Amino acid sequence: MQDDRLISAKVLAEDDTAETSVRPKRLEDYIGQNKVKENISIFISAARERGSSLDHVLLSGPPGLGKTTLATIIANEIGKTIRKTSGPAIERPGDLAAILTNMEPGEVLFIDEIHRLNRAVEEIMYPAMEDFNIDIVIGKGPAARTLCLDIPPFTLIGATTRPGLLSSPLRDRFGINHRLDFYEENDLAEILMRAAGILGLEVDPAGAREIARRSRGTPRVANRLLRRVSDYALVKGDGSISCSMARLALEKLEIDEFGLDNVDRMILDAVIAKFGGGPVGLETLAAAVSEENDTITDVYEPYLLKLGFIQKTPRGRIATEHAYRHLGYMAAGGSVKISGLFDE
Ligand SMILES: Nc1ncnc2c1ncn2[C@@H]1O[C@H](COP(=O)(O)OP(=O)(O)O)[C@@H](O)[C@H]1O
Ligand SMILES: [Mg+2]
Repeated sequence: MQDDRLISAKVLAEDDTAETSVRPKRLEDYIGQNKVKENISIFISAARERGSSLDHVLLSGPPGLGKTTLATIIANEIGKTIRKTSGPAIERPGDLAAILTNMEPGEVLFIDEIHRLNRAVEEIMYPAMEDFNIDIVIGKGPAARTLCLDIPPFTLIGATTRPGLLSSPLRDRFGINHRLDFYEENDLAEILMRAAGILGLEVDPAGAREIARRSRGTPRVANRLLRRVSDYALVKGDGSISCSMARLALEKLEIDEFGLDNVDRMILDAVIAKFGGGPVGLETLAAAVSEENDTITDVYEPYLLKLGFIQKTPRGRIATEHAYRHLGYMAAGGSVKISGLFDE
């Protein structure tokens, strides 16, 4: 519904072109996520030394944190081409068989949203990942035969926002499994300075920090805000982004000091005012704010959880004291302002 909103960590149409120019291509330009980077670089060196293909890699984490970027970097670093597809795009086992039989040895197959692979396709994937062969059925009915085909060794890189939805046989076949975390403000500021350099924008470090602070730990959001703030700076000033210019622009965009936008605040407000602070179930909450369930769980909720504005309980989401305070339902002293709370 709200896919055009500024904060959304999903890919917007405008991002596609804008992102490619600033997307890092080497591991050394991939900022932050140090533990992941360190591990990956060791595995890459080991694979190089052994002269074998790199183990399969699973990258999980909320949208916009750099899964696709890292997959592309891994392929670059091992000097192989990468073929990109996604879980829902591979409809039948034959589609996957066609892809796998056409790979060059050592190539990388990237499957985005791998938790959305269907069962029949997944079953082709198991022997392919493990032994580099696939079973294909030829013919129909009594005349049907199963053929076992060798395929070239390859590296599968799977990306997912919902690792919990992966079947365990599939998850177990990834030798390397990393979860990307939200970025620190410092890292985001560095990502912004780097992007500004590539885009030829004048940003001072305090300006970058101001944007970083409100980017909800997400590089994609940071880069998008940079473009918006830059537009604003061009119209209202000389185009350069100082701290005060950044602050002014972000206020105009209605992004608060935590990086929350109207929809985030709507979600918190719904939990508090419509459902008495919770617990409220996902579907009920999603309906109340006119969003899809998946959008709530994948895009909005992870950051609200990280900020400690909501908590997940077995019976649903509840709003924390932080949320009451942030939305002005609670005075600094701690008393809840009941008036207006249930007025809807
Ligand atoms: N570690 C990083 N360093 C610098 N830029 C990054 C990093 N991670 C992500 N980005 C930027 O954020 C954008 C979104 O990352 P992407 O890999 O598409 O996220 P995901 O696939 O996890 O949704 C990229 O185009 C890139 O410009
Ligand atoms: Mg991606």
